[in-house]
Amino acid sequence: MKIGILISGRGSNMAAIIDAVNSGDIPDATVAVVISDKSSAAGLSYAESKGVPALVIERHGRSREDHDKELVSALQKHGVDLVCLAGYMRLLSPYFVQIYRERILNIHPSLLPSFPGLNAQRQALDHGVKVSGCTVHYVNEQLDAGAIIVQKYVEIAPDETVESLSEKILDLEHQAYLDAINKVAGLIANENRDFDAASVRA
Ligand code: GRF
Repeated sequence: MKIGILISGRGSNMAAIIDAVNSGDIPDATVAVVISDKSSAAGLSYAESKGVPALVIERHGRSREDHDKELVSALQKHGVDLVCLAGYMRLLSPYFVQIYRERILNIHPSLLPSFPGLNAQRQALDHGVKVSGCTVHYVNEQLDAGAIIVQKYVEIAPDETVESLSEKILDLEHQAYLDAINKVAGLIANENRDFDAASVRA
């Protein structure tokens, strides 16, 4: 399985995925490419230090779809079977979602469907919820709305701040992403096998 990771910034989830692939915690997989839409993304240098091709594909005022066409063609050039969004701060176009349907995962720092969108930890504290957490889900055309694959929860302390909650959730995110990738890996392997069989028969 070839994984492509899209980032916009820090890249700690990206680093966790690369490390898990390298240590065998995500078996039979490689990280084929990391792509950022921001040249300033800190995660790029980590990917490079691990020998993973790291590209910057900025929007440059293009439409969402035109930008996504370049992303999809780079992912396809690297043979990517599974796209992992890891702090990627742009919505994907229907064009992108259609090409990689059921093959795009995202991680979000709340227990979806509660608190989609930006500042999920702030939203959780403002609502006074007593537990929050993270969700890894399939990406569809709606924001933070696809089918849920893995969730992990944390209890919210009475004196919780956005910073302390974000830190607690981030600790769980890295494991949650590995669990989710391992869950979908079997499905993807089967689909690839069917696909190979079909092309042999053709
Ligand atoms: C994480 O909290 C993730 O849930 C959200 O953006 C943040 C990215 O962090 N989508 P990192 O870049 O993976 O460190």
